[in-house]
Amino acid sequence: MCQKGTLCLAAGGLVAGPLFQQETPPSSLDSRVAVVRRILSDVPLIDGHNDLPWNVRKFARGQLVGFNLTADLRHVEPWSRSAWSHTDLPRMRAGMLGAQFWSAYVPCGAQYLDAVQLTLEQIDLVKRIISLHPQHLVLATSTKGVLEAHRAGQIASLVGVEGGHSLGSSLAVLRTFYSLGARYLTLTHTCHTAWADCSVADAAGPDPPATAAAPAPTPTAGRRRRPGLTEFGRAVVREMNRLGMMVDLSHASVKTMKDALETSKAPVIFSHSSAYSICNSSRNVPDDVLRLLADNGGIVMVNFYTYFITCNSTANISDVIAHINHVREVAGIDHVGIGAGYDGINHTPTGLEDVSRYPYLLAELLSDPLWTEQDVKKLAGLNLLRVFREVEEVRDKWQLAAVTPAEDLIPAADLEGHTTCMYLAS
Ligand SMILES: *[C@@H]1O[C@H](CO)[C@@H](O)[C@H](O)[C@H]1NC(C)=O
Ligand SMILES: *[C@@H]1O[C@H](CO)[C@@H](O)[C@H](O)[C@H]1NC(C)=O
Ligand SMILES: *[C@@H]1O[C@H](CO)[C@@H](O)[C@H](O)[C@H]1NC(C)=O
Ligand SMILES: *[C@@H]1O[C@H](CO)[C@@H](O)[C@H](O)[C@H]1NC(C)=O
Repeated sequence: MCQKGTLCLAAGGLVAGPLFQQETPPSSLDSRVAVVRRILSDVPLIDGHNDLPWNVRKFARGQLVGFNLTADLRHVEPWSRSAWSHTDLPRMRAGMLGAQFWSAYVPCGAQYLDAVQLTLEQIDLVKRIISLHPQHLVLATSTKGVLEAHRAGQIASLVGVEGGHSLGSSLAVLRTFYSLGARYLTLTHTCHTAWADCSVADAAGPDPPATAAAPAPTPTAGRRRRPGLTEFGRAVVREMNRLGMMVDLSHASVKTMKDALETSKAPVIFSHSSAYSICNSSRNVPDDVLRLLADNGGIVMVNFYTYFITCNSTANISDVIAHINHVREVAGIDHVGIGAGYDGINHTPTGLEDVSRYPYLLAELLSDPLWTEQDVKKLAGLNLLRVFREVEEVRDKWQLAAVTPAEDLIPAADLEGHTTCMYLAS
């Protein structure tokens, strides 16, 4: 098994090369990969979104007996047959992954039903996976935790809840997810909630094929009377600021993005989205929002799904780099990161087929004189660490100011009749 400080690229056989001046891009792929290896021992490579937990639920009914993440799942059924499987420990080590946000995702179909319970089960599943592999994985809930894990040669494992439908319209549930370790909430998935519109509101023409992690919108996901965030939606964002939880705007409608940027006192993230001006999927971030994001201090973690990269079924490393460079150009080098979306996508770019491939993306960037080693460090992890730290600082400041937990209740009228499965006597 690969250890920190050992080069474990799938291609194998690479040795540490000489240290290169960043002004002189190393010429061969091997030497650039050696530089990447040194960079990633300094700075954790942080990925914003991975859907392995949902696949474990789907493929193994959430049961870890008989599921072996230390195996190369390319040779284990049913993973080997699935276009959705890109993640296991040997390949995470080969990819020099330093920190992963694991998605506690549940389908929009569970909205107003058992979404809260399913989300709790997915958080439990993430924690059980982590505790089965203490030499490789450790739960991280802070910037300090991420850095400590990286220093100890472990992969920091963070929890992100994907979709406001998981809250059951309750700030108490939001707080409970935070206390269980969740450090971002994606305001929506592919359904509107009673308080936030999703990107379906902006979709023109047919959507890209439904994916396991992004199924077709539910029938209840109609266009809202008022796009963006409601007053309760703004209260959710403020409560996340108070808690120290990152606001994730991937999957949100453009109006929701803008409302959240206007409301949030802390930087926001896009945990897995790319650039709209290159591929006009409604899941991507338009340039005016990229400029607002720069003012906000937030980050777009670029997604690798080919339908968000080329708007087509095929793409390659250069196509992904075009998105990274676009976010860099419009928002700035401090506002771009990586959120591949592995295990939640079924079309990956050539050269970025699974979690083992990140070093090749970074090595390719190093062949461009625009990209200094410091820039690559920012993309790989420093930017997300800065955003997360600023979110923690807002939390600490509000705590000193004795800001109390929000007690807003969602107005009954906002629930649009979705009260069938609620105990109403409370
Ligand atoms: C898991 O897979 C690894 C690598 O193939 C193997 O060495 C180990 O024995 C397996 N563990 C279990 C419990 O099957
Ligand atoms: C994206 O652009 C294509 C044509 O280039 C157009 O047909 C499609 O409707 C656009 N999609 C969106 C979401 O604007
Ligand atoms: C999409 O990909 C297919 C198959 O690779 C190709 O034939 C087609 O030209 C591509 N379409 C666009 C718009 O690039
Ligand atoms: C990616 O594909 C384009 C053609 O679409 C090609 O020009 C480019 O060289 C390819 N990049 C890599 C890294 O293979």
